[in-house]
Amino acid sequence: MKVLVVYYSMYGHIHRMAEAVAEGAREVAGAEVEMRRVPETLPVEVLEKMGAVEAQKAFAEVPVCTVDELASADAIIFGTPTRFGNMCGQMRQFLDATGQLWLKGALVGKVGSVFASTAVQHGGQESTILSFHVTLLHHGMIVVGLPYAFQGQMRLDEITGGSPYGATTIAGTEGQRMPSDNELAAARFQGEHVATIAARLAG
Ligand SMILES: Cc1cc2nc3c(=O)[nH]c(=O)nc-3n(C[C@H](O)[C@H](O)[C@H](O)COP(=O)(O)O)c2cc1C
Repeated sequence: MKVLVVYYSMYGHIHRMAEAVAEGAREVAGAEVEMRRVPETLPVEVLEKMGAVEAQKAFAEVPVCTVDELASADAIIFGTPTRFGNMCGQMRQFLDATGQLWLKGALVGKVGSVFASTAVQHGGQESTILSFHVTLLHHGMIVVGLPYAFQGQMRLDEITGGSPYGATTIAGTEGQRMPSDNELAAARFQGEHVATIAARLAG
């Protein structure tokens, strides 16, 4: 049973969450878990201006995903930073290249799940995940979120991401806040939850 964690990260927050999602998925017996980045679409000069070049070096060794790889997975867990309350353009462009998979119904019945990151607490985490789900449903995927069985999403004693739609983190307007222990626990829970369901479907 193969789980792909497919993500884009500009400053490392989604990368850190992706590692935790993969860790959680690896807890499930028989799960083969791979991490993949979607291709960058911005020119280096723009990335430099955005202060992303140095940050992206930390995960440059993660292989870039091909569209065909999606068809070989039993479950795909997508991670994206928010752009104006939606997924980032790099992810959108990658998904817009999956028309051939859609035509063949290659993702029908696979498990799909999403995690996200915003700069600010109410910056659109839920709209990003829910609007992402629309694409997964067009592909016929079985959408899985982060159940309230992960009780950390109900915490009020600290500022935290987390939603029934998927794990989230709050990066800060300067990217100064890395995922908290609670947010990483949510990501691990989501990874394990998705892999458990995919294993049942495969079995
Ligand atoms: C063009 C652009 C649009 C953004 N839109 C939002 C937004 O709507 N809400 C928000 O809270 N953060 C927004 N952000 C901040 C990013 O979501 C934040 O940098 C990201 O979640 C950090 O994750 P990363 O380090 O994995 O890239 C935006 C950033 C950019 C560059």
